[in-house]
Amino acid sequence: MGVPHVPQRYVLPPSQRPNPTLDLTTTLPIVDLSSLHNASQRSQTLDNIQSACKELGFFQVVNHGIPLAVMNDALDAATEFFNLSLEEKMLLLSANVNAPVRYGTSLNHANDKVHFWRDFIKHYAHPISNWIHLWPSNPPSYKDKMGKYAQAVQVLQKQLTEVMLETLGLNIGHLHEEVEEGCQLMAINCYPACPEPDLTLGMPPHSDYGTVTILLQSGPGLQIMDNNRNWHSVPFVEGALIVQLGDQIEVMSNGLYKSVVHQVTLSAENKRLSIASLHSLPLNKKIQPAPELVDEQHPVSYNEFSFRDFLDFISNNNIADRRFIDSIKKTA
Ligand code: OGA
Ligand code: NI
Repeated sequence: MGVPHVPQRYVLPPSQRPNPTLDLTTTLPIVDLSSLHNASQRSQTLDNIQSACKELGFFQVVNHGIPLAVMNDALDAATEFFNLSLEEKMLLLSANVNAPVRYGTSLNHANDKVHFWRDFIKHYAHPISNWIHLWPSNPPSYKDKMGKYAQAVQVLQKQLTEVMLETLGLNIGHLHEEVEEGCQLMAINCYPACPEPDLTLGMPPHSDYGTVTILLQSGPGLQIMDNNRNWHSVPFVEGALIVQLGDQIEVMSNGLYKSVVHQVTLSAENKRLSIASLHSLPLNKKIQPAPELVDEQHPVSYNEFSFRDFLDFISNNNIADRRFIDSIKKTA
């Protein structure tokens, strides 16, 4: 609070700092989900989703069915949580990636070489009755407000994941249950205003491990990388939610769809909050390229992996150094 300079442990080597010359102002896709229920617009919308998934692994959605009040309540609960005394938050501190609820700073404060300008609380959320009693009991409204949002976003993820599998032409009959029963991990992030935002990041470049991540943000700061390794700042659209494809969809699609590399930049003036809901198939389910998408021209490009394998990977590796998905790519 109020420090004039970024402490040395947050200063990134010059090559890893945010690079304004690579930040393009392009129009990023926004999909109106209500058009999926309109017979004359549905196929055009599916085409738009398919191109966004192939080219970027990213789009924003509007008319997604989650009321603005539910989203604002969740952000309010997050604000109040991060406003608690450090002492109180420290009761939830854990560096164990398997803890059901954990408060932390940076990526993993126990082994980060350079620190990132972020505090977070992570907890599981589906099925909610298994987890909600473990969530913070302070602020008193946290469980109710975050719980309502978590359940609404779980409904949305099911719809989005099934639409994506449909646009891949996959027979999803056997996947319905696994999409429904998969893991939901919520990462609630706080990025305080930063006195020297050019020297550090809130989160380093990474992709998420699951099927989809649905992200709610209080303001701008997220950047995504395109195929040419240029960064695009994601515009803040009131009421919209951000959809990011994760490694499990990239693997299932045998590389047709891309998990999006993203990072978080900081502001000198404003604190930013975000709520990332990370969805994946059940913990031990091995994901592999769908047989329908494998042929002579498109040989199997990835080894199979489960969410548990990813958790083992991040216990031993720093995602700021090496992408998980590169560890399971088959080398030709
Ligand atoms: C994440 C993430 C982005 C953001 O939690 O995995 O990428 O904008 N968050 O906070
Ligand atoms: Ni992420």
